[in-house]
Amino acid sequence: MNTIQFIEDHIPAVAKLCRQALEKDIMPDFLLTEKTVLDPDFDSKLTYIVKSDQGDVIAFIMGVVRDRGNEKIGYIKLFCVHENFRRNGIGRKLYNLIESEFKGRGIKKVRLFESWPNYYQPGIDPFYTEAVCFFERMKFVRNGDTSNLTADLSASDFDTSAEEKELQKQQIEINRASHNEFENTMAYIDKFFPAWRGEVSAAFKNSPVSLHIAKLDGEIRAFSAHEVNNIGTGWFGPMGTDPVFRGKGVGGILLKRCLKDMKEAGFAKAIIPWVGPIPFYMHYCNSKVSRVFWKYEKILE
Ligand SMILES: CC(C)(COP(=O)(O)OP(=O)(O)OC[C@H]1O[C@@H](n2cnc3c(N)ncnc32)[C@H](O)[C@@H]1OP(=O)(O)O)[C@@H](O)C(=O)NCCC(=O)NCCS
Repeated sequence: MNTIQFIEDHIPAVAKLCRQALEKDIMPDFLLTEKTVLDPDFDSKLTYIVKSDQGDVIAFIMGVVRDRGNEKIGYIKLFCVHENFRRNGIGRKLYNLIESEFKGRGIKKVRLFESWPNYYQPGIDPFYTEAVCFFERMKFVRNGDTSNLTADLSASDFDTSAEEKELQKQQIEINRASHNEFENTMAYIDKFFPAWRGEVSAAFKNSPVSLHIAKLDGEIRAFSAHEVNNIGTGWFGPMGTDPVFRGKGVGGILLKRCLKDMKEAGFAKAIIPWVGPIPFYMHYCNSKVSRVFWKYEKILE
């Protein structure tokens, strides 16, 4: 067996391994490309494959370090071992390789999968029970949970014109953001929702821009985005409304505008990840919990 640094040429073989090992998830080659080499923090010293003696890719691990302002956090972003090769210490060896690299860089905290803004899933799905056992053995401590919702896009046309007319009477205008609103929008996000800078800025790379904004007297007060992470898979969000602006129905309209875009793009379902206000989403689009994730952290000594 041979452990080597991952490079872009490995994508087809690694995506195939992920599809075999992560049976609850999808991993087309384009998605693995987005998760790996298109991540601005992609780091080949934190991303490895293992090849069998026959030359097949049998394991993959990707770590990433994110700068969170006052600290740097290490994430295990993707990880799998082919089922025929499990319980042989391959996972442990790969994890230890990444952990010692994290330690060498002074990282004090490691989290699993939730490596926003570019992340695959917001935690470990306990359906992958081997992963739960593995990471608990590696001394990770469970510290919360979250869920993804799924909305059926065939159930409605998501038309919001009547509600928008009502809001216009209160000087509230809702529109798709245009490319020349980038600076203005990012200034608003930096002020109220700084954690979403990466995802919101990605919406401006899409054409049309996959971001809708609500303005009062010309000032941005709320937004919703889609197709900014796991692009091409029907991933909604993020969205946010200024606290003083809540309760006016603006969030519902912004949500539906994104869902309408996604439906028109051909998606049958929208995934609303890492929630959050389940009743809000259920109210506006009858979305239901489709996945549950456990969140884990390890403090490095
Ligand atoms: C999680 C995974 C990567 C572990 O890889 P692995 O090579 O089998 O792990 P190791 O052999 O190094 O296991 C190390 C320790 O983890 C624990 N562990 C791993 N698999 C386990 C299992 N099925 N049951 C109980 N404990 C387990 C054990 O303590 C093990 O040590 P031991 O064998 O000496 O008892 C592998 O099971 C996998 O690819 N699962 C599917 C993909 C996945 O779930 N990825 C994470 C997505 S959320």
